[in-house]
Amino acid sequence: MTDKETSRDLDESELGLKAKSIDLTDLVQRLGGRSIVLVGIMGCGKSTVGKRLAQRLGLEFIDADSEIERAANMTVSEIFAEHGEPYFRSGEERVIARLLGEGPQVLATGGGAFMSEATRAEIAQNGLSIWLKVDFDTVMARVRRRSTRPLLQNPDPEGTMKRLMADREPIYAKAALTVRSKEVPHESVVDQIVVSLDNYLHQRAGD
Ligand code: S3P
Repeated sequence: MTDKETSRDLDESELGLKAKSIDLTDLVQRLGGRSIVLVGIMGCGKSTVGKRLAQRLGLEFIDADSEIERAANMTVSEIFAEHGEPYFRSGEERVIARLLGEGPQVLATGGGAFMSEATRAEIAQNGLSIWLKVDFDTVMARVRRRSTRPLLQNPDPEGTMKRLMADREPIYAKAALTVRSKEVPHESVVDQIVVSLDNYLHQRAGD
């Protein structure tokens, strides 16, 4: 366990109590206009957890993939099929840079977005990144339910996922915070995020 993950020392109910004791208005103020940016592999829960986190903090929730789809007037699958991945990636960089200028908000990014050095630099400047870390079995169980992810539409989605996780996890680990996204109620993952954010912002403020 790294010191980025200390909130895992608490069990679910202790975590809930700790999260409830935090002054959320003060926490949002201490963000100083930065957006909370959720990163991590497909199926780690960025959108589901992000919506609930935004609601808890009274911030707007934005899903970068939905914004890309809106800007292109096409689904992510259609963009991959008609224009290819590099085209999607450059649109993704542009859309995320624009969204980061419109904070503070909770921003869920697509699983590949944080691989871009330019996007990581934008996020470091205007946001606070949180990696929702999830294990392979949990994520595979979730992504199997949907066919909206072009990178997994091939004969070996398990192998692809293993490779993507191995390639990307060292980069996701560069996020300011890491929170485990497990098979626990989403609200409990939100509790973990709130507690981790609070610790992080106090540490950075030196108090
Ligand atoms: C991708 C993840 C997807 C979407 C696109 C590519 C990736 O987003 O951006 O299919 O490279 O991991 P989610 O992580 O929200 O599924």
